Amino acid sequence: MSYTEPMLKPDALKGKTVIVTGGGTGLGKSMSRYFLTLGANVIICSRKADVLQRAADELQNETGGKVLAHPCDVRHYTEVEKMLQAALQTFGAVDVLINNAAGNFISPTERLSPKAFDVIVDIVLRGSYNCTLALGKHWIAQKQTNKVVLNMVTTYAWTGSAYVVPSACAKAGVLALTRSLAVEWAKYGIRMNAIAPGPFPTKGAWDRLVPGPFRERYDLAKQVPLRRVGEHQELCNLAAYLISDYAAYINGEVVTIDGGEWLQGAGEFNLFDDVTPAEWDMIEKMVRSAKSE
Ligand code: HXC
Ligand code: NAP
Repeated sequence: MSYTEPMLKPDALKGKTVIVTGGGTGLGKSMSRYFLTLGANVIICSRKADVLQRAADELQNETGGKVLAHPCDVRHYTEVEKMLQAALQTFGAVDVLINNAAGNFISPTERLSPKAFDVIVDIVLRGSYNCTLALGKHWIAQKQTNKVVLNMVTTYAWTGSAYVVPSACAKAGVLALTRSLAVEWAKYGIRMNAIAPGPFPTKGAWDRLVPGPFRERYDLAKQVPLRRVGEHQELCNLAAYLISDYAAYINGEVVTIDGGEWLQGAGEFNLFDDVTPAEWDMIEKMVRSAKSE
């Protein structure tokens, strides 16, 4: 058994219909593929129609599942409503929303224009809000229960991070949205959770965050205590579990899947990680012999 293997029973999502925003690339595409193998119908949306359709064809051929590719810019509420209508026309109902679409790039904040902040916050925070609002209004009006929203955040949603300030602000907002609506909408039978991934290589993220030679210079695996980056399947396993009925009592939670990365930076004495056993002997001797003044 390995963390690179699918975890859930083959029919764990049978009969469920899942919207994955940004589902044509990266982690969204990987999650979509796994949900399809577990019996779900999937709607993928993003701005680039050609990328979406290619992904939908590939996923359908691979899994035999049903995929609707619907171009939609999540920044615009009217487009989100149209996407929901298309999903309802095709599949009759929607059970799960994954707010996965994102924009990000690495840059010193003082180099940013005001619009650079807007574009990231609009995709990540406003986009998640728009999709959640459209689905929530629909589910509540129709009195449909056992519905789930799963938001993709990051660990710097609570620590903050230099050089990705618009993304950090937006993801912090999405985390607040998650925790707020987990309480407010529980009475309607809607669960709301988040996943905070550490580094999981994707073209979209790596090209914008560790481009070119910086990929080697700043090997992200080195700052993970487990000394590796994430495998898409282990994140897919977690996401599938959280949207499945097995997770019916999990609400308002953010599950970190980062090999211990953010805590590595947080602990006061974590920099002692490279002390050798011989050096620990030396340290112990010195500390034991310390006398109070
Ligand atoms: C400074 C930049 C910039 C850069 C864009 N801008 N790139 N500023 N440094 N590298 C500025 C532009 O100058 C412009 O402002 C404004 O941002 C909007 O840029 P556009 O190119 O017009 O926007 P658009 O075409 O809508 O593209 C959006 C995008 C792009 C976010 C900039 O990168 C994109 O499409 N991204 C989608 C996918 C993505 O980002 N995936 C990564 C997710 S990774 P002005 O004022 O000049 O007009 C992630 C992981 C987190 O979230 C954790 C990892 C461990
Ligand atoms: P990715 O492949 O670049 O995915 C982002 C997707 O969002 C793209 O498919 C993009 O498609 C879509 N998108 C962007 N703007 C949009 C808009 N306005 N409307 C609709 N769709 C839009 O990146 P990823 O690495 O898989 O990231 C997926 C999620 O995981 C993100 O939420 C990210 O913050 C989170 N995450 C990733 C990592 C990691 O290490 N990879 C770590 C922590 C968190 P279009 O360009 O076609 O619109």
